[in-house]
Amino acid sequence: MNLAVVIMAAGKGTRMKSKMPKVLHPVLGKPMLRHVIDVAQTLNPDEIVAVIGHDAERIRAQFGNEVELVIQSPQLGTGHAVQQAQAWLENRVDAILVVPSDLPLLSTETLRQMVVAYESGPGSIVMLTVERENPLGFGRVVRDNQGHVVAIVEEVDCTSEQKAVGELNVGVYLFEATWLWRNLKQIPLSPKGEYYITDLIGIAVEQGTPVLAEPMVDPVEALGINSRVHLAQVEAALRQKINRAWMEAGVTLVDPATSYIDLDATIGPDTIIYPNSFLLGHTVVGQDCIIGPNSIVEDSTIGDSCVVRFSVVEQATLEENVDIGPFAHLRKGAHLATGVHMGNFGEVKNAYLGPGTKMGHFSYLGDITTGENVNIGAGTITCNYDGVKKHQTAVGDNAFIGSDTMLVAPVNIGKNAKTGAGSVVTRDVPDDSLVYGVPARLKKPNSEQEYG
Ligand code: UD1
Ligand code: CA
Repeated sequence: MNLAVVIMAAGKGTRMKSKMPKVLHPVLGKPMLRHVIDVAQTLNPDEIVAVIGHDAERIRAQFGNEVELVIQSPQLGTGHAVQQAQAWLENRVDAILVVPSDLPLLSTETLRQMVVAYESGPGSIVMLTVERENPLGFGRVVRDNQGHVVAIVEEVDCTSEQKAVGELNVGVYLFEATWLWRNLKQIPLSPKGEYYITDLIGIAVEQGTPVLAEPMVDPVEALGINSRVHLAQVEAALRQKINRAWMEAGVTLVDPATSYIDLDATIGPDTIIYPNSFLLGHTVVGQDCIIGPNSIVEDSTIGDSCVVRFSVVEQATLEENVDIGPFAHLRKGAHLATGVHMGNFGEVKNAYLGPGTKMGHFSYLGDITTGENVNIGAGTITCNYDGVKKHQTAVGDNAFIGSDTMLVAPVNIGKNAKTGAGSVVTRDVPDDSLVYGVPARLKKPNSEQEYG
């Protein structure tokens, strides 16, 4: 069977009250449409077509290389949306799986269940249904006295008797392609001025075309996003699933309800995540780490046995046995080698701190490279910006930067060199030497006398 998936993604998403099209709103770090495309791809269909409308250019920029995009303008309902894919798909495939773009929890198992039902059943049409306690907003599946599906009735059009029906339309359908193309034209215009795909069920029943209703195994997948309230509910459901998987993989989440782990993040076993912590984007955390409480780690790599407490880590790399915080801020390009210690109120960006380097308190290091076992005294600042350009600082192995040193870049501090407390270093410091004062001068070896 040649299969196409048609993703309906053109709706305005009015209820989101957003400048951004609904399908681009992220759900755990991934746009809603990305979730649906990803699950569609797991079926290896011959074609994937997304019907888009609002902000088509923005959507094209993100997804144009992966799926066929067709425009629906104006947006005249779900039936009209699918019709826009006809020109591209007609005579190419035998069956069409229609999926809305606002159900990011749909699983590959559920879609496969539809395909299996279609292939084994007698019907031209398979529709996915769900039983839910709160049917609000869903179309109801109406059956006759013999229990046969008769129609889907949208909530606004339901009689009070129909409103009480607990069997609901999920919005996912599998049609025989020729039947679909022939009958899309038969959908009547609704009083609201739209063509509802749901009307195809009634049309099929009238023609004597069998309709199979496939019940969804896990009703949580039917959670759709029409509003920000739904967005939060769907995220919470997905988060629960992800968090459970990490716990099953050997990660301790002290309070799963306040652990925010994006889909693309990974965590090694025996790592402990304390409450209110975020692992965002493409973040990799090794094993035996302690993350949190209250930490944000985004697009960063953290090696084994690291500790990150009350800290913000962005596009940074920590090798093994690094500990930072409380209140450390690593910015883009911060790279802390094995055994680095960074205590409270430090900021590091675009920097390499060599193995064993210690930076205990209140420092800013930007555009710097240090060797091994460097001591960065309390209050050390790289004065890396002259108002126009950024400049580099280099510090050699075992150097000792005294408290409150200003390193006025560009400047190099040699191996085993020392700077006195409060010194303002404006010139390079040779290996094994000591500088002190403002501006810093060299102290002559074995002498109280100075030159400078
Ligand atoms: C739809 C179903 C309803 C079902 C519910 C479950 C219809 C008429 N109703 O209602 O029976 O219970 O989903 O999730 O189908 N879209 C377009 N073009 C349009 C209109 C919508 O592409 O002109 C897309 C939207 O982007 C969305 C999907 O179709 O992804 C569904 O539209 P939406 O307005 O969310 O329909 P519901 O009111 O949720
Ligand atoms: Ca919807």
